[in-house]
Amino acid sequence: MAHDAKQQSATARRSSALSGTARVPGDKSISHRSFMFGGLASGETRITGLLEGEDVMRTGEAMKAMGAHITKTGDEWVIRGTGNGALLEPAAPLDFGNAGTGSRLTMGLVGTYDMETTFIGDASLQSRPMGRVLDPLREMGVQVLKSAAGDRMPLTLRGPKVAAPISYRVPMASAQVKSAVLLAGLNTPGITTVIEPVMTRDHTEKMLKGFGANLEVETDSQGVRHIRIEGQGRLAGQVIAVPGDPSSAGFPLVAALIVPGSDITIENVLMNPTRTGLLLTLQEMGGSIEILNPRSAGGEDVADLRVRGSELRGVTVPPERAPSMIDEYPVLAVAAAFAEGETLMEGLDELRVKESDRLSAVANGLKANSIDCTEGEASLVVRGRPGGKGLGGGTVETHLDHRIAMAFLVLGLAAEKPVTIDDASMIATSFPEFMGLMRGLGAEIEFAAEAAG
Ligand code: S3P
Repeated sequence: MAHDAKQQSATARRSSALSGTARVPGDKSISHRSFMFGGLASGETRITGLLEGEDVMRTGEAMKAMGAHITKTGDEWVIRGTGNGALLEPAAPLDFGNAGTGSRLTMGLVGTYDMETTFIGDASLQSRPMGRVLDPLREMGVQVLKSAAGDRMPLTLRGPKVAAPISYRVPMASAQVKSAVLLAGLNTPGITTVIEPVMTRDHTEKMLKGFGANLEVETDSQGVRHIRIEGQGRLAGQVIAVPGDPSSAGFPLVAALIVPGSDITIENVLMNPTRTGLLLTLQEMGGSIEILNPRSAGGEDVADLRVRGSELRGVTVPPERAPSMIDEYPVLAVAAAFAEGETLMEGLDELRVKESDRLSAVANGLKANSIDCTEGEASLVVRGRPGGKGLGGGTVETHLDHRIAMAFLVLGLAAEKPVTIDDASMIATSFPEFMGLMRGLGAEIEFAAEAAG
């Protein structure tokens, strides 16, 4: 399935100091889960701050197709869920567009139901591996009736009469895989256990507990997490305020660091420690980021971030930090392009299976803009040029990947020459307000049609 929106190129130019205050949209991971768990729970769920990006809206449509009632009144989304175990067979394939999180978590959520569900998506999603979710589901009794070669979408699942609980050790650092198994456990009698050797974002655990699931987490002496969920319990609707997405905040944040003289504040950013790897790394690089007004909201830590233009220096980012900043490497690579010396990033194997092969997409984008870098099997070295002299002037292929698009527009704000991306339309999957928000801070970014007109 092709992406709906027309491809539209965009260009970013060297800008003068960024300033002002901004709020990034709601966290994508929490927004997907809010629609899913609200759609499943009994009673009413009310959500404010939801990310209204294309990916999350696809999850909402899928939940509606399975019986949830979802409306929006003013700023608030109101959901009446089906009750745990009571999702309906969708009449048509569920189209997840570009959304890996939406599709993989939903496979877990409905795979164990005694019904047929078909999953479809765009060219990027069809190229992504789904076996990582299908393998544990098969162990629980789920049949994969159809799939494209290599366990890829489009695919059709059929659940058993009664699913079997399993104990599953997640073989890669993936919150999506962990979550898919836990959600399958919701519709399975007995205790389903997920063993997580490397901790990843814990929104599923925290939110399911909030909805009333009987879920417990134990961390053993080796630091391995054992997450147990009891199936077939009652989930009750909740009131949720979704905090700002730290992954989206990364774009204005790095922009302010690399554009000299900038001084911006980004309000209400999620500070869950499983998501703050980029902040830590940029601070190690000498970035001036002040964490203001730290507070707790709806069970999550949030804060405002004051960011000022900074002279950055290269660092080594250890592989064990990857899960806490897995979506942030493209924009970190851009920050590294302006740092003194070399930045080494390791443990990047999972970047190869994101919306694009992000490791090669980043390396190619950097090279197209005269940035010296070396792409390894699972690593990237970027040799920076403080001041950005000689950088830019290239066109970046975004490969249907929103984060590649946004990261390279940020590059253009501080490079000597303009940077063009081939397609800005995918930005709407996670950060529809990006262009307007960045311009509001003083960024010179425009779509090709605007430049021509
Ligand atoms: C997500 C998990 C991560 C991340 C994605 C959102 C989630 O994917 O990259 O953007 O909400 O669970 P993986 O589980 O593939 O690492």
